[in-house]
Parts: sequence; C-alpha cells; structure tokens
Amino acid sequence: MKENSVIEFFYPNREYWKQNKMRLENKKIVVTAGAQGIGRATAIAFANEGADVLATDINEEKLNELSKDYPNIKIANLDATNKIEVEKFCSSLDNIDILFHAVGFVHNGTIMDCDSDEFHNSININVYSAYLMSHNLIPKMLKNKKGNIIIVSSAASNVKGAPNRFIYGTTKAALNGFVKAIAADYVKEGIRCNAILPGTVETPSWESRVQMADNPEQARKDFIARQAMGRLAQPKEIASMAVYLASDESDFVTGTLNLIDGGWTL
Ligand SMILES: NC(=O)c1ccc[n+]([C@@H]2O[C@H](COP(=O)([O-])OP(=O)(O)OC[C@H]3O[C@@H](n4cnc5c(N)ncnc54)[C@H](O)[C@@H]3O)[C@@H](O)[C@H]2O)c1
Repeated sequence: MKENSVIEFFYPNREYWKQNKMRLENKKIVVTAGAQGIGRATAIAFANEGADVLATDINEEKLNELSKDYPNIKIANLDATNKIEVEKFCSSLDNIDILFHAVGFVHNGTIMDCDSDEFHNSININVYSAYLMSHNLIPKMLKNKKGNIIIVSSAASNVKGAPNRFIYGTTKAALNGFVKAIAADYVKEGIRCNAILPGTVETPSWESRVQMADNPEQARKDFIARQAMGRLAQPKEIASMAVYLASDESDFVTGTLNLIDGGWTL
C-alpha cells in the first residue's frame, strides 16, 4: 500500500494527516493542575500539537514558570474545588472544545488512618473538582454540539486495590463511574468523556512522597523495583495518551478507562 492509501484507509476524514497539520489545531483546551506533573506535560504536548491551551492551577509560581518556558500556553489561577471561582472562570470562556482534568491528591493510609476531615478533603479535591469543572463546561459544549472531557483517574481504583490508598482508590473509582455516566448521558450530543488510569508516574508529588520516607534513597529504589517494567512512567508518556484522546483520531472512543501502568495490573 502506498503511504497515501494507508492514510486514506485509516483516516479518511483526517485532513491533517494528508496536509501535515498538527493533531490538535483549532482546539481550545482547558487543563487543570497544569502547573506541574502530568498536567504540565500534557499542556505542553497539547500546545505542541497546535492546540490553544489554557493551563490552570493554584500554584501561581509554577504556572508563571510554565508560561515563561512556553509563551504560547495561556495561564490562569484557578482552584478547581472553589464553586464561585470555577463558575466565574467558566463563564469567562466563550468557547471550549476539551477539558483535561488532572487535579488530584494522594492520601496515604488505610480506612483507619483516614478521619472524616481527610475523607471529605479527598472527595472534594478528587471528585468534586471534576464535577464542578464538567458541570460548568458541559453547557458550552452542548451549545456547540461538541465536546470532550478527559479525566485523570488512576489504576489504583476499582481496577486495583493498592495498599494504603483507601480514600485515594475510593475517589478514583468514583471518577471511573463519573466518566461512564457522562459518556452515557451525552453520547448523542457530541460530547465524549474518557479516563486515563496511570500507574506510578515520576512527578513532583511522587517525589515528595519518596522524600517523606525515613530513607528516601532506599524508598525510591524499592518503589522502582516493585514496578513490573522496572521503571516508573514519565509524565510525557501519559501526555501522549491524552493527545490521542483529545484528537479526532479517537472520535469513536467514549466512556473508556485507559490504563497506562507499565503492566502493574497484569
Ligand atoms: N503521579 C502518579 O504516580 C499518579 C498516578 C496515577 C494518577 N495520578 C493522578 O494524576 C493527576 C496529576 O498528578 P501528578 O502527580 O501529575 O500531579 P502533582 O501532584 O505533582 O501536581 C498536582 C497539581 O495539582 C495542583 N492542584 C492541587 N489542588 C488543586 C486545586 N484545588 N485546583 C487546582 N489545582 C490544584 C497542584 O498545585 C499541582 O500543580 C492526579 O489526579 C493524580 O491523582 C498520578
């Protein structure tokens, strides 16, 4: 098969493949938790594929670093758990194609280590933020009869019971249900919703969990030794899955829970 007929076969309506266009040209994307880790890497990958990216976070300093390094990425300070802030932010946007929601917090411990405040705090950061962002952006997507929501969940959820991740796994399992429910409700309205379920990714928050151990160097070695592939994921590896889910290549994909865990759940 000649190169062009391969493209015709797999991507009959994908003009950008034929015209050498970038994969996310003309797409307006809001990224939450965009200042570091998976959110930052994904904001950069989206921008590199031609998207119009607005990266949000509560960490203003890191957001400023991002925009200094990548001046084509717009930034905004946004606490995704704050109803008033999210409403104001979303109503200021005239158009939106994609929400990439990466806000999340890892509580360490069993059910007995998790008091009521910690329980509600994790629900607030991990689940309520996804509700607030989606609840305020879906009306705009409905107006356009087109939209795409990508939620960063985790393999530690209903997929795998991970030790000392009681409330974290509970909230991520809730997000997996959240994604299925939104996908089902809006499948006829042109809105897709999918989740990414990473294993362990080398991000600043992972690094700080390692630093909290009595012997951080040993903790790092032990952690890596436990990985099926003998290494952690890099944020940009999660970002490449996000680019696929954000692009028109995945037009027929909705309600899916996409594991990217280096074989952790095999
Ligand atoms: N790192 C991993 O191993 C791993 C594995 C599976 C899933 N995840 C998920 O990926 C997502 C990103 O994790 P990470 O490790 O890349 O990031 P991280 O923990 O290194 O950074 C999180 C970012 O979220 C921001 N943030 C926190 N609360 C916020 C709020 N209320 N509003 C807006 N921003 C807020 C922080 O300022 C920070 O920039 C999370 O949902 C996490 O649960 C991470």
